[in-house]
Amino acid sequence: MSRINTGINTGVAHNARVWNHWLGGKDNYAVDREVGDHITGLYPSIGEVARADRAFLGRVVRHLAGEAGVRQFLDIGTGLPTADNTHEVAQRVAPDSHVVYVDNDPNVLTHARALLTSAPGGATDYIDADAHDPDAILHAAARTLDLGRPVAILLLGILNFVLDTERAQRTVDRLLAGVPSGSHLVLTHPTLELGGEGNAEAMRFWNENATPPITARSGAEIARFAAGLELLPPGLVSCTRWRPDPTPDGSLTEPPQVAQYALVARKP
Ligand SMILES: C[S@@+](CC[C@H](N)C(=O)[O-])C[C@H]1O[C@@H](n2cnc3c(N)ncnc32)[C@H](O)[C@@H]1O
Repeated sequence: MSRINTGINTGVAHNARVWNHWLGGKDNYAVDREVGDHITGLYPSIGEVARADRAFLGRVVRHLAGEAGVRQFLDIGTGLPTADNTHEVAQRVAPDSHVVYVDNDPNVLTHARALLTSAPGGATDYIDADAHDPDAILHAAARTLDLGRPVAILLLGILNFVLDTERAQRTVDRLLAGVPSGSHLVLTHPTLELGGEGNAEAMRFWNENATPPITARSGAEIARFAAGLELLPPGLVSCTRWRPDPTPDGSLTEPPQVAQYALVARKP
C-alpha cells in the first residue's frame, strides 16, 4: 500500500476514482482501473449506469433551475469533477445559482478547485464532510446557501454507501428538515430489481476489494426516503427513464432501463 501526503490511498480502489474511470476520466490510479475493469467483466452494463446517472443529473438540474425556479443546490457525494458538473448545468440556465458540493473522499478534495469556478452573480463552495453527518453539512452549507429559501438536495449514487437503511433515512430526514417548503430531494440509487446481469456479484467483489462498501436497495426502500414529499412525474424509475430527452430525430422513445433508480420529489 502506498500513501502520499494528502491522505490519498493509491493502494485500494476508491469509489470516486473508479466512477471517474467508468466515465472515461483520467483522475484514477492503476488499482482503480484494475478493480473497475474486473467489475465491468462481471457486470458489463456498469459503464452505462455511470453515464446514465450523469445524464440524469444534467436533465434534472436543467429542470430544477429552469421550470422549477430553484436557485440553490446541495450536491452530496459529488464525485470527481467531470463534464457538466452541477454548477455548470445550473448556471447555464440561471447564472445566479448557488451550488455547494460535499464529498468525503480526499481525491475529490484535491480536485475541488475545478468545482469552485462560478458564473458572475452565482457562487460555489466545497465541503469535505461525511453523509453520515447531515448536521455538519447543513452548518457548513449555510456559508453559501440561504437555508430559508428552497434548496435542491442531490443525493446521486451516495445513499448506497450509507449501509444502514435507518441511518440513511435519518440523513435524508435531517437534511430535509433543514430546508423549507419548495425544496427538492433528488436521488439515484443502485438496485437489483431492474436487471443488470452480474450486479450482485460485482457488488460482492467491490465490498471485498474496494472502498467504501456499497449496498443495493429495493424500489420500495428507495421510495420510502421520499415519504411525505410530492413525487414529480414519472415517479420512481430507472434513471434513463426520468424525462428522457428526445432522440436526435425528435422522437420520444423509452430508453432501456439501467439498474439505477431515480426519483425527484418536492417538499410540500
Ligand atoms: C458513485 S459516485 C457518484 C458521483 C456523482 N454524485 C454522480 O452521480 O455522478 C459516489 C460519490 O460519493 C462519495 N461518497 C461515498 N461515501 C460518502 C460519504 N459517506 N460521505 C460523503 N461522500 C461519500 C464518493 O467519494 C463518490 O465521490
